[in-house]
Parts: sequence; C-alpha cells; structure tokens
Amino acid sequence: MWGTILKGSLLFVAAMLLLSMTGCSAYATEATEFGELSSDDFTYESRCRQCHAIIYSDWEGTMHFNAYLDPFYLEEVKVASEDTDGLVDEFCSRCHTPIGVVSGEIPPIDGSEMSDIAKLGVQCDFCHVVSGSNGTGNAPFTVTPGNTKWGPFDDSRSAYHDSEYLELYTQSEYCGMCHLVIHPVNGLVIDDTYTSWQESQYAEDEVVCQDCHMTDGITEFEANPGRAGSGAPKREHISSHDIVGANAFIPPMFGASSVADMAVERLQRAATLEISTPEIASAGEEVMIEAAITNSGAGHNIPTGVSEIRQMWLEVVVTDSEGNEIYNAGTLDADGNIEEAKIIYNNVLGDSNGSATDSFWLADRVLEDNRIGPKETVTEEHTFTLPDNVAYPLTVETSLNYRSAPQYMIDHLMGEDTEVPVISMNKELAIIYDPSTPIDERGQPRSSESTSTPGFSVFIALAALSITMYIFKRK
Ligand code: HEC
Ligand code: HEC
Ligand code: HEC
Ligand code: HEC
Ligand code: HEC
Repeated sequence: MWGTILKGSLLFVAAMLLLSMTGCSAYATEATEFGELSSDDFTYESRCRQCHAIIYSDWEGTMHFNAYLDPFYLEEVKVASEDTDGLVDEFCSRCHTPIGVVSGEIPPIDGSEMSDIAKLGVQCDFCHVVSGSNGTGNAPFTVTPGNTKWGPFDDSRSAYHDSEYLELYTQSEYCGMCHLVIHPVNGLVIDDTYTSWQESQYAEDEVVCQDCHMTDGITEFEANPGRAGSGAPKREHISSHDIVGANAFIPPMFGASSVADMAVERLQRAATLEISTPEIASAGEEVMIEAAITNSGAGHNIPTGVSEIRQMWLEVVVTDSEGNEIYNAGTLDADGNIEEAKIIYNNVLGDSNGSATDSFWLADRVLEDNRIGPKETVTEEHTFTLPDNVAYPLTVETSLNYRSAPQYMIDHLMGEDTEVPVISMNKELAIIYDPSTPIDERGQPRSSESTSTPGFSVFIALAALSITMYIFKRK
C-alpha cells in the first residue's frame, strides 16, 4: 500500500515541482533511475586527487564525504527501513549514496552489495558527472559518468578529461536537488533549505548557496584566486570544496576536527544576539530580560536541514556576586538534556495520530515551527522575581546555543558514551546593580568613576611608598 502510493506520489511531487520551477527548463532532463548504471562507470576520487589536490583535501572529511558512512545516518536509516518494511530504502539512499542507487547496489539497505566507491557518499565523480536535473527536491539528477566532467568554467582544458560548462553548477538549484526533501507519500516538506532560500531576500539579490558555502566569505561571496588543478591557468576565483554547514558532531569521528572548527565558525557568524535588562533592581521586584535574536548570516532558516532533529536555544543564567544562582533557563541537566528553555528553535513534526515524532518518515504534518527566517529577528522574554538578600551586582549571562541532535536521541541510537557537542553561537553579558547605585546615562554606575579614582590613587600611593622604601634602603 505504502509502495503503490509511493511511486505515484513521487511522480506527482516531481511534476508539481517541475511546474513550480522557473528558469531551469533550459537543462531539464530525465532523472537517472535506480540501477540504470554500474558503479564501475564512476572514477575513484583518488584519480581526481592527482591533479586536484587542494580540492580533494577541502572535500575530505566534510559531510558530503561522510554522507553515507555517517553513523547517525546509518542508525536512522536502519530504523526508517524497519518502520516502513524497506519502502524508504531507495528514497533515503538517493541523496546519501547516489552512486549506490543509480548502480542498483542499494537496496539491500544493510550495504552488503555495495561497492567501495558507492560508500564514498557525495563525491567528485558523482557531483561532476551530473549533466542535468529534473528540477529540485528528492534528488532528480541526471548523471552521465564517463570522460566528460561538467563544471562552472566554459574554457576549461585538461589532458585527462573533457570539460563541459553547465550553468546549473553556479546556481542554488544544483544544491536544491538534494537540499529539499519531500515526503514521497504525503508531500510533507521535511527539509526546506532550498525553498527557504528561494523565498528570501538572498534569492532576490542573487546570493546563491555557493557564495556562502564555497567561498571563505561565509555570509557572502569572497573571491579566492588560484589554480583549479595542476597545470591549470591562474583564475580570479576558484571555489572551495570544504562545503560546511553546522555539523561539528560527526566530522571529528572521521578525524576531521578542522571541518568541525569551520562549522563552529560558520555558526558563530549566523546570528546576532542583543539583550536588554534593567540597570537596577530591588528585592521583590519582577525583573525582565529581553533577548533579540537575528538570523543575520544564513541564507535560509536557522536551524535548517533536518531541523526537526537540530536544537537551537537561548541559555540564560543570572547569578549574584557571591555566585548564587538566581534564575536559569536552558542549561543542561546531568543527562545532557535541555532544562526549561523558553523556546527551542526548530520544527516539530507530527504523525497521523497528531503525536510529535522525530522519525520524519512517519510524519504527515508540522506541529510547530520556531525556526528563524533569513534576516528575521525574534525576541524572547525571561522574567523572575528578585529574592531578598542578594549580593549585588547581579550578572546576566546569555548564550545562543546549537547542537546537531538532542542528547537523549543519540543515547538511544548510538549508546550513552557519545556526547553531542553544544556550540555557543553568540554570547552576551549584562550587569544589574543595587538600586542605591547612581547610574549614568550610559547605564554604568556613577560610582565606577569614583572607584576607578581610588584604584588609581592606591596605585600612586603604593608607588610612592615603594620609592620611599627604595630610597630608605639605599641609605
Ligand atoms: C556536492 C557536489 C560537489 C562535490 C562533492 C565536488 N564538487 Fe567540485 N564543484 C561543485 C560545484 C557546484 C562547483 C562550482 C561552484 C561555483 O563555481 O559556484 C565545483 C567546482 C569544481 C571545479 C572548478 C574549479 C573550482 O573550484 O571552482 C573543479 C576542478 C572541481 N569542482 C573538482 C572537484 C573534485 C576533484 C572533487 C572531489 C575532491 C569535487 N569537485 C567535489 C560541486 C561539487
Ligand atoms: C591529469 C590531471 C587531472 C586529473 C586526473 C583530473 N583533472 Fe579535472 N581538470 C584538470 C585540469 C588541468 C583542469 C582545468 C582547470 C581550469 O580550467 O582551470 C580540470 C578541470 C576540471 C573541472 C572543471 C570543468 C569545467 O568546465 O568547469 C572539473 C569539474 C574537473 N576537472 C573534475 C575532475 C574530476 C571529477 C576528476 C576525477 C574523476 C578529475 N577532474 C581528474 C586536470 C585533471
Ligand atoms: C548568506 C549566506 C548563506 C547562504 C546564501 C546559504 N547558506 Fe547555508 N548556512 C549559512 C550559515 C551561516 C550556516 C550556519 C547556521 C545554520 O546552521 O543555519 C549555514 C548552514 C547550512 C546547513 C547546515 C544546517 C544545519 O543546521 O544542519 C546546510 C545544510 C546549508 N547551510 C545548506 C545551504 C544551501 C543548500 C543553500 C542554498 C539553497 C545555502 N545553505 C545558502 C550561510 C548561508
Ligand atoms: C547528491 C545530493 C547532494 C547535492 C547535489 C548537494 N548536497 Fe549537500 N549534502 C548532501 C547530504 C546527503 C548531506 C548530509 C550528509 C549527512 O549529514 O549525513 C549534505 C551535507 C551538506 C552540508 C553540511 C551540513 C551540516 O550540517 O554541516 C552543507 C553545508 C551542504 N551539504 C551544502 C551543499 C551545497 C552548498 C550544495 C551545492 C553546491 C550541495 N550541498 C549539494 C547531499 C547533497
Ligand atoms: C533529497 C535528499 C535526501 C533524502 C531523500 C534524504 N536525506 Fe537525509 N539528509 C539530506 C541532507 C541534504 C542532509 C543534511 C542536512 C543538514 O545538515 O541538516 C541530511 C541529513 C540527514 C541526517 C542527519 C545526519 C547528521 O549527521 O546530522 C539523517 C539522520 C538523515 N539525513 C537520515 C535520512 C533518512 C533516514 C532518510 C530517508 C527516510 C533521508 N535522510 C532521506 C538529504 C536527504
């Protein structure tokens, strides 16, 4: 039953997508089907590395390199396959091991029939033999393996292979083949990275995925002059292949901690955080902390991708000067789970009973969507009543945090020794003073001027004293 609607709906969804697409009809082609090719048609990345060494080292260890071997994926696809009696096997694998699918080596989902090359995820001689696409979403690529490599240059020459220019490589629609996941049976959009970009100001301004993800600019295009291969001419721009998002969890498992560092840097450029607090507060008073979070650097929602699994949240901790905690929200408990966060920024999917599920293959509706759109600002408010006998001043520490998955989910899938790293995307600090402290127009205590003066006079006095002692000693 799932199976019969599956095929029909796939066609329906593909047709709808094609209709809704604009500007791509020029290279619209038939998607390559399951088993149409053989894995022997593809060339190992080690061959490409001989001339494209820098590009190779960029790509190595990234999530494209890991797309199939990623243990989080392998655990999830096992569950998905069991839940659907194997009906999602080809669907999931089409993006995570495209060579595995077009060569008919997967299913079976356990990988027992797979060649080594199919296990290398999204790789050179998959991406560069894409010769067209049937729109975006659910991987409608056409692949033509062989001597021709398609790419962004219209004047490229290599002794080893023929080169062919295809504009698609320079457009978001190339990435949108896979970075748009639609439920094959009910049409629910599971990963809307491409569409959230398409509806944003970035699309209007022609800032594409490659501008941010394939240049050092991170939030905008930055030219990177260099050579694309050995013996190649110098060009004004060649793109980086360390296509990194926010995943600092999986790459270190493959020894690629530098990829994780790049993900942290990207997360730290994605959002700004501003907090406002009262400058003074007295016991018994209700104190309100307002935090404004802006998606300032990402060309799509934050978080994006499998955002039903991702978690972004604000941690707020207020302490007095003796270190007593007065308020907290969003800190982790002993098991690594988030306690009392005001909002977890992600989306919650529901199954046909309306219950929340993170098994997106079982979902047919969106229950909640708290993600922050490109250039959007959201605010959250935290209030607490100030107890008696606090030691002033109070420190308000806030951190906007991100992690790839809830800890309980990873405990369940991978065992309790695997800790999901929490990344602070941005931090802000504020101080609340005793009401008797005079505050200046900048919100600083006036006494700070007078405290700096005594500090300085103490320094002068000490200096004078040591000079006197020095003179005294010499005598
Ligand atoms: C996810 C798909 C993907 C993978 C994997 C990938 N590439 Fe690319 N590659 C692209 C895209 C897209 C561009 C064009 C980017 C642009 O110009 O905006 C590109 C550009 C290139 C270029 C032109 C020079 C440049 O850097 O702009 C070369 C050469 C190249 N890739 C070789 C490789 C090799 C070798 C590998 C494997 C180590 C590889 N690519 C892996 C998608 C990919
Ligand atoms: C013998 C050296 C050599 C090998 C091996 C090699 N390339 Fe190239 N490749 C080059 C040179 C040189 C260029 C020209 C770069 C330029 O025009 O700036 C090039 C260009 C490219 C381009 C750009 C094409 C365009 O029109 O935009 C792509 C994509 C590419 N190679 C992919 C690959 C892939 C994938 C492999 C492995 C299957 C590979 N290359 C193996 C030397 C090589
Ligand atoms: C204006 C720059 C910009 C553009 C354009 C952009 N991104 Fe991003 N992307 C970011 C930043 C910054 C992050 C890190 C914050 C986050 O996770 O969203 C990111 C994260 C991601 C992630 C990881 C998300 C997660 O939480 O797992 C993916 C996947 C991604 N981008 C894909 C794309 C694709 C595909 C496109 C084009 C349709 C695109 N990006 C366009 C800046 C950009
Ligand atoms: C053949 C399908 C495919 C294509 C084409 C593709 N990707 Fe991906 N991409 C994937 C898969 C699958 C993963 C995730 C693997 C995982 O997490 O297990 C991924 C991961 C990523 C990540 C890392 C996400 C993170 O959380 O860190 C970024 C960023 C990204 N892709 C951007 C791009 C961009 C930009 C393009 C276009 C130049 C592109 N991708 C083209 C399939 C694809
Ligand atoms: C149309 C392409 C596509 C299909 C189909 C697809 N995925 Fe993915 N998957 C991706 C991309 C792209 C990412 C990376 C997005 C991000 O970083 O958030 C991803 C990420 C994931 C992740 C997160 C991995 C990590 O390390 O954080 C899991 C788990 C996953 N997919 C499982 C599945 C399962 C199970 C299925 C089938 C039910 C499936 N995917 C179908 C493209 C796809």
